[in-house]
Amino acid sequence: MATREATWDYRDRHHERFARTYFRAFGDCVVSSIGVGTYLGDPTDAADENYEAALVDALESGINVVDTAINYRCQRSERVVGAAIDAADVDREAVLIATKGGFVPFDGERPDDPGRFIREEYVEPGLVDREDLAMGQHCIAPDYLDDQLDRSLENLGVETIDCYYVHNPETQLEVRSREAVYDQLEAAFVRLEERAAAGDLRHYGVASWESFRVGPDHDSYLSLPEVVSRARRASDRAGTEATHLRAIQLPFNVFMADAFTVESHEGAAGPQSALWFANDAGLDVFTSASIMQGRLASEMPEQVEAKLDGETRAQRAINFARSAPGVTSALVGTGSPEHVAENVAAGTHEPLGADAFDDVFE
Ligand SMILES: NC(=O)c1ccc[n+]([C@@H]2O[C@H](COP(=O)([O-])OP(=O)(O)OC[C@H]3O[C@@H](n4cnc5c(N)ncnc54)[C@H](OP(=O)(O)O)[C@@H]3O)[C@@H](O)[C@H]2O)c1
Repeated sequence: MATREATWDYRDRHHERFARTYFRAFGDCVVSSIGVGTYLGDPTDAADENYEAALVDALESGINVVDTAINYRCQRSERVVGAAIDAADVDREAVLIATKGGFVPFDGERPDDPGRFIREEYVEPGLVDREDLAMGQHCIAPDYLDDQLDRSLENLGVETIDCYYVHNPETQLEVRSREAVYDQLEAAFVRLEERAAAGDLRHYGVASWESFRVGPDHDSYLSLPEVVSRARRASDRAGTEATHLRAIQLPFNVFMADAFTVESHEGAAGPQSALWFANDAGLDVFTSASIMQGRLASEMPEQVEAKLDGETRAQRAINFARSAPGVTSALVGTGSPEHVAENVAAGTHEPLGADAFDDVFE
């Protein structure tokens, strides 16, 4: 588990190379405001090797946030994260390891018949109830998440996951009402509270592609205040002292800034954007797709680019994401050591202050 002591040691070892606010608080730990993601790429040995080299470089050069999910690259990403943590000259306790459960994962490679794989490996053995499946591939039922969390612990080779996300719960909105999805989330949270009490995870969160950055009338919308209230209720039901809900993850980049601009979450003084609501509710925000899956490395509106610091376009894009209010860390996926070096160096530049960030939207 990431600890206060080890993450502060890590910060003390690296912080002089970086600009102010590069390391930020996460609970009682400190973490880098640039993290590495492991989503894209093929489920191959060659991609594993590249990811492992990139992750080791990242961990040894000032990035102590790693994001993965059990389904990424057919579980290979989680396994590579475990291997990289072992191989890197870094304490496991210095690293925030986040993963996610929800999408039924393949095992090492894509099967010829995915439907049959899910039926034979998950439905027939009773790990997934057909009623709980959305789009033939997504489930957030408590017993299923229990099984997935166990597998993630095994894949990562750790005793405790620092942040366990319920992965894209909006997928369930394809087959049931919003109220039913909130009920499902509450049931999932009760189980995650129990697993937190047992020491298997430290915090949990919700990772979403659309829910939190669209308006309330959108089919994929989920309300952050309702998610927070369900987590509080889950904590009461599980008998934990306070909720372990700590983070959300959502896309945020120069082209997709809706988490800052769309005010769709009811706060004390009226509707707020996802970023401001999370900030006021004490939730950490981790941004996915921070360079828009690579596109921002080659293309960016001139007037925005002119306001951002960085030697390269990718660095300027990363600095946009990590400058937004309430963002703890901007996740950038990469299986390339060269890109790691470029991305981590974004942190040698100051992020934008609040006024300068607002100016980007003028
Ligand atoms: N919950 C969700 O729905 C969700 C969705 C998407 C992502 N995520 C998480 O967020 C992380 C980040 O998002 P993402 O990976 O989708 O997108 P991203 O970070 O915006 O972009 C990753 C892509 O950019 C390329 N890249 C990285 N650094 C570069 C550089 N300096 N110059 C040029 N290209 C560069 C990478 O290729 P190389 O490998 O060649 O570097 C990769 O193809 C993911 O890895 C995942 O952990 C979550």
